[in-house]
Amino acid sequence: MCGIVGYVGPNVDGKALDVVLEGLARLEYRGYDSAGVALVTGDHVSTEKRAGKLVNLTEALASHPLPESSTGIGHTRWATHGGPTDENAHPHRGGQDGKLALIHNGIIENFHALKSGLLADGVHFLSETDTEVVAQLLAKAYEQTHDLTAAMQQVVGDLEGAFTLLAVHADQPGVVVGARRNSPLVVGLGQGENFLGSDVAAFIGYTRSALELEQDQIVTITPESATVINFDGSPAQGKQFEVTWDAAAAEKGGYPNFMAKEINEQPHAVADTLLGRTDETGRLVLDELRISEDDLRAVDKIVIIACGTAAYAGMVAKYAIEHWCRIPCEVELAHEFRYRDPVVNERTLVVAISQSGETMDTLMAVKHARELGAKVVAVCNTHGSTIPRESDAVLYTHAGPEIAVASTKAFLAQITACYILGLYLAQLRGGTYADEAQAVMKDLHEVPAKIQQVLDGLDRVREIARFMADTRSVLFLGRHVGYPVALEGALKLKELAYIHAEGFAAGELKHGPIALIEPGQPVFVIVPSPSSEHGLHGKVVSNIQEIRARGARTLVIAEDGDEDVVPFADVVIRVPQTPALLAPLVTTVPLQVFACELATAKGLDVDQPRNLAKSVTVE
Ligand code: F6R
Repeated sequence: MCGIVGYVGPNVDGKALDVVLEGLARLEYRGYDSAGVALVTGDHVSTEKRAGKLVNLTEALASHPLPESSTGIGHTRWATHGGPTDENAHPHRGGQDGKLALIHNGIIENFHALKSGLLADGVHFLSETDTEVVAQLLAKAYEQTHDLTAAMQQVVGDLEGAFTLLAVHADQPGVVVGARRNSPLVVGLGQGENFLGSDVAAFIGYTRSALELEQDQIVTITPESATVINFDGSPAQGKQFEVTWDAAAAEKGGYPNFMAKEINEQPHAVADTLLGRTDETGRLVLDELRISEDDLRAVDKIVIIACGTAAYAGMVAKYAIEHWCRIPCEVELAHEFRYRDPVVNERTLVVAISQSGETMDTLMAVKHARELGAKVVAVCNTHGSTIPRESDAVLYTHAGPEIAVASTKAFLAQITACYILGLYLAQLRGGTYADEAQAVMKDLHEVPAKIQQVLDGLDRVREIARFMADTRSVLFLGRHVGYPVALEGALKLKELAYIHAEGFAAGELKHGPIALIEPGQPVFVIVPSPSSEHGLHGKVVSNIQEIRARGARTLVIAEDGDEDVVPFADVVIRVPQTPALLAPLVTTVPLQVFACELATAKGLDVDQPRNLAKSVTVE
């Protein structure tokens, strides 16, 4: 979850610091409790690092400028080992002469054992981090090899865990060496200059030509070259690709924050995710799903694994997939799945949902599922990330870069991609399953316009959110697919506005949570369409009456034309009529806007909520 940038340019350009700081600013969403840079000048490495946001580092650099350089590395940190202090910030130096500097994303699991060995050799440590242990090991290896690439190759063999490492050495100006295992690292290929980054945002202002590394590879960049080898020293080649989005796509586009922008991009996120997935007859065509049709037809159980918001997308998918395909579908938090004894075999299809494609809990669950013989399909928003690479196949969501830490547009895109997958499986089953799949695809294509309609009518929700800025607790109720929407509404409010919020299945209310209802308690209720099966709508209207009778302030999300809710609602928030299983794509939107607006009214940083990181690359 840390952000990493590396740069080498022509000897004379001296622009390393600017490039690195610009990259760090774009990557700050990955982690932001400290930041630092190291620059190589002559035979000297200079570093500056500061706890806190990037601005603390830039202020320190303004008052104590570093010598100009054309070789540099930079880091934004989300603390794992050792708190967010200046000492624990990266880069860390290695060697008695301090000529080596290293930055790191991930966790070195065996660092205690490695550190004991170094302490026994008399090495002195300045920080509590696992990273400094690697810096010292690398410096020792350099003393033997006098070559940073060879030293890196020597050291990575001793490391356990997940890591991206970038290193520079004073004796090798014009060289940055990177290594990756289970953590992201991409190379940016320029003209007479090269870049490294945790993702392409790090160098998008300079080049769109990029190189994707495989697991367990080392890359050495100079102004003229980018050379890749495997950890065993054998030559390797990264996969070259062109970055299709530009720097402007990652900017706020006139909105007050990235989250507001991303919420408003949701019609596109859903439409783009649907794009190109049907032929001219309306049949789903998923060429990218590199699992044979026979294998998919043989699937007798689906297990969805994910964390947080992505897991709620999975819960929505369960209702839809079971209904459309009649295949049992379970949803499990990836970190729970990994550490029990799940019943999974070669007839199980595991669906791993992850916006970043780097969530370590989900990655480990993917590996575990494959060890057990299951086929894994990743639903992912980030090309070149680890989870798709470790899966059998990937269905990309096309939400575009999501910069705000809390997920919004990726959530709707994940739900959409899961619908596509479920409908594709139904199509493979043929007969009436296939007919229904085609009809639902038609409905799905109408949803982006409905999301836009919701977005255009939310002034009242914004007003209510501002009015409720002092609220201490909000409850969210839903049934069926409205239940995960309630959970997501509560999560958004918790993480953005730091307000106690709980989501419940509305039917569960009478089994305990109704005790929380007291006069004035705000409760959002997500009401299913009156056209829902099994009298679901009536049940939820009864639930609204039950809480209203106990004094709750009811904020009701209901379809256009649903008049049954009116007598029991303090506020009705309207959404367009939408088939029941697809409704989360419209009912989630008012809850996202509510949380974003309320947090903004409280003066909070909605893009970077406290204690959170965009991409959680530790277990
Ligand atoms: C909440 C949020 C998180 C992520 C979770 C999984 O707003 O963003 O709960 O959904 O950390 O992240 P990905 O999808 O990147 O695996």
